Amino acid sequence: MLIFADTADTKLLAELNETGLIDGVTTNPTLIAKSGRVIAEVIKEIAEMIDGPISAEVTATDYKQMIAEGEKLAAIASNIVIKVPLTVDGLKATKAFSEQGLMTNVTLCFSVPQALLAAKAGATFVSPFVGRLEDQGADGIQLLHDIRTVYDQYDFDTEILAASLRNSAHVAQAAIAGADCATLPPAVFNELFKHPLTDKGLEIFMADWAKTGQSIL
Ligand code: E4P
Repeated sequence: MLIFADTADTKLLAELNETGLIDGVTTNPTLIAKSGRVIAEVIKEIAEMIDGPISAEVTATDYKQMIAEGEKLAAIASNIVIKVPLTVDGLKATKAFSEQGLMTNVTLCFSVPQALLAAKAGATFVSPFVGRLEDQGADGIQLLHDIRTVYDQYDFDTEILAASLRNSAHVAQAAIAGADCATLPPAVFNELFKHPLTDKGLEIFMADWAKTGQSIL
């Protein structure tokens, strides 16, 4: 499963990228607003830092304007993925972008029929929002399993990008469900490294090693 960073904070992203474990980045209008920066500048900086897919979201809601915005975003760098909302106009734009050979990420997906339509439109990625479904008392992880089943059954190439993941359990469950990628806020990514038994085990190893008086170097 590829791991994407869900952030438009380039300082934090640079830190995460030092691990060598970040395969791509997703942004959305909320994250761009939070960065306080101009979208084209942030996206360009991110695309220069990370080689993998970088999702940049259109903010228009009508087809014509989405096409214009998407083409402008895609021109920033060759690894830009145009992120469009799962609406009628969004899927029409997805089809048009796909025919032009441009990558797309269909966002705000909350159901199997929506995911089916995104795949039929030729989306490169579809983003089911796990956390936001759970906020409503629905089962976001089951949605990932169901989309996986449907995509495999019909051999769709669209990749499942598990989004709105709020903790490491979500990441584990997304991987078990067979998501192709997961996008994680920086805090969730950092949480993945941690386990109390790792800390405890390391403490014991270090204490025992100190008793030997040895040094490897
Ligand atoms: C990423 O593509 C999504 O926009 C993001 O994961 C949404 O996360 P949230 O529901 O925590 O805002």
